[in-house]
Amino acid sequence: MERFFVGPSGPLSGRIEVFGAKNSVLKLMAATLLAPGRHEIGNVPAITDVAIVRELLGAMGVESLHSGGGTSGHLTLTVPNEVIPVAPYELVEKIRASIVVLGPLLARYGSARVSLPGGDDFGHRPIDMHLHALEELGVVFTTEHGYVEGRCDRLVGARVVFEFPSHTATDNILMAAVLAKGTTVIENAAREPEVIDLADMLTGMGAHIEGAGTSRIEIEGVEELRPASHVAIPDRVEAATWLAAVGLAGGEIELLHARADHMEMLIEKLAEMGVRCVDTGSGILATATHPLRSVDISTLPYPGVATDYKPFLVTMLSIASGVAIVTENIFAGRFRYVDELRRMGADITTKGHHAVVRGVPRLSGAPVRSPDIRAGAALVLAGLVADGATEVSGAEHIDRGYENLAGRLSALGADVRRVNE
Ligand code: EPU
Repeated sequence: MERFFVGPSGPLSGRIEVFGAKNSVLKLMAATLLAPGRHEIGNVPAITDVAIVRELLGAMGVESLHSGGGTSGHLTLTVPNEVIPVAPYELVEKIRASIVVLGPLLARYGSARVSLPGGDDFGHRPIDMHLHALEELGVVFTTEHGYVEGRCDRLVGARVVFEFPSHTATDNILMAAVLAKGTTVIENAAREPEVIDLADMLTGMGAHIEGAGTSRIEIEGVEELRPASHVAIPDRVEAATWLAAVGLAGGEIELLHARADHMEMLIEKLAEMGVRCVDTGSGILATATHPLRSVDISTLPYPGVATDYKPFLVTMLSIASGVAIVTENIFAGRFRYVDELRRMGADITTKGHHAVVRGVPRLSGAPVRSPDIRAGAALVLAGLVADGATEVSGAEHIDRGYENLAGRLSALGADVRRVNE
């Protein structure tokens, strides 16, 4: 049982490197299924989600080697001519992002059997948009025994209109369409920087894609692709974690490699709250002025304020002066960690997808449990502004998305330790 022990901290100072984007890397790994041969991906952090997707691809016959960590983390994946196109329950259950193997498997092998993802800490998360869009490209699905099985001849390009700009559904259709016959157009596509990163890697493999990063992506299918050599973009959610840390504990830190252009709306909100971010060209210099000020927040698809930032923002609002209304528009169930913040003395009321956060001067250290990656990191940050000791259990959730969270926060002057019991 591993936990984080956190003590009151601040002001923070120093430099921190932002590592590769989890939600890019996982899709880049799936995209290697589109071409046999040896693929190279750089800037791959040593996080559990990468290890699970390696295991998933390994079960299909893909050999992989992950060396180093942080910005030096490098992944080599060797994809055979034939793979076993199955994503088993044991692995999909660990990571919902496994669903992104569906598009590439169907595009290249004409068949895929993927366990249906269950519910998780965000509540019910369906995959209907993935399936409907793939059906438009010619896939026939059957569902039995908890698995969805798709079959097709060569996919045929089509116009796909999403009712919501789903991030992974956009990834999936993009990866399917690159090998389809003819043109595919995705309307109301997700615009996240990670979608652009995936499109960049696919383009490097020989795909023809226009419009990634906009709501309309046009893909001209090609006959075959070649292996990739690509470096993942920095993780904007990890960057947001460090910005929240300095916002809470005060001080000035520099985030090396952070892309201010990938987090404009967040930076605007932080400025209103009292955290000033300056784009240095090589990263972001962040300075916090206390007390923080409350602002209302609504999560929205990119370029809106990402739902993944919300646990950090709610933690900051917990100690800000004033009252804020936070509205969750992406995942209805994503307020579960609020109970843990309340145990630390935060004054938060939730109703449906709204939360009212009344700032208190300081939180109070308590044993709390990490419910998921980002909320877990937010609870560690809450400990920085809590009197006494905070003990965050469920470290394994945090490890899914953070390499060495405790060590990197300590290097900025925070009192954070990881203890293995
Ligand atoms: N939705 C459907 N049907 C679908 C797909 C999505 O109804 O077929 C709904 C979802 O239930 C949700 C909304 O559409 O209400 C948006 O979900 P989306 O598909 O965009 O989310 P996702 O692609 O499953 C990714 C990230 C999440 C991040 C969200 C929102 C990955 C692996 N995951 O999830 O990241 O919160 O986009 O930006 O890219 C994390 O990193 O811990 C994480 C959860």
